Amino acid sequence: MHFTLADLVTDITQNGAESGAALVELEVSETGNSGRGEFRFTVRDNGKGMSADELKRAVDPFVSDGVKHPHRRVGLGLPFLIQTAEQSGGGWDIKSEKGKGTTVSAWFDAGNVDMPPVGDVSGMFRSILMFQGPGEIHITRSRGGRSYELRKTEISEALGGLEAAGSLVLLDKYLRSLEEDTSQIRQP
Ligand SMILES: Nc1ncnc2c1ncn2[C@@H]1O[C@H](COP(=O)(O)OP(=O)(O)OP(=O)(O)O)[C@@H](O)[C@H]1O
Ligand SMILES: [Mg+2]
Repeated sequence: MHFTLADLVTDITQNGAESGAALVELEVSETGNSGRGEFRFTVRDNGKGMSADELKRAVDPFVSDGVKHPHRRVGLGLPFLIQTAEQSGGGWDIKSEKGKGTTVSAWFDAGNVDMPPVGDVSGMFRSILMFQGPGEIHITRSRGGRSYELRKTEISEALGGLEAAGSLVLLDKYLRSLEEDTSQIRQP
């Protein structure tokens, strides 16, 4: 199966978007280069949260609530994230409080041969900004000492709505140019 870290981040952010949150915050950072360093992300939402028991079930690969996917008996999202992080020399942290919200973090060692490829980060941000549900999505991206921020409401206003004709193309160009600016090699 071919998947990327961008797929994982999208999946976990979608959980935040589906949690009834007014605000979902995503941070994605990469440090180091040429096979050394770390990929790390955090998704924070102020949605419905989970009790200790619900969280225990959500991270168990053999439990699924059967609501969203009635024919699937195993969950994918959180168990898969945990498995991938642990198998590639990384780690994870999940905190949730019922009625308050959830914070999911995971990190991956770029020097580990089992780390999945990062994938298409700007394409991932575009998908996430299009999620229906949360009132606001804030994204902070940093790589190699540079960073940029994205706010869904600001971007939507600037584009005259994310559903408008041509908006997707403009959004895509904008996101790719921001991402490119973080990839330029600079002198120390
Ligand atoms: N951020 C969150 N806030 C509240 N509940 C969450 C959150 N993330 C996960 N959960 C709970 O854990 C369950 C399992 O999540 P998981 O992503 O594994 O599956 P899913 O979202 O139900 O389905 P899928 O992601 O496969 O479409 C969710 O159905 C939800 O009840
Ligand atoms: Mg999910």
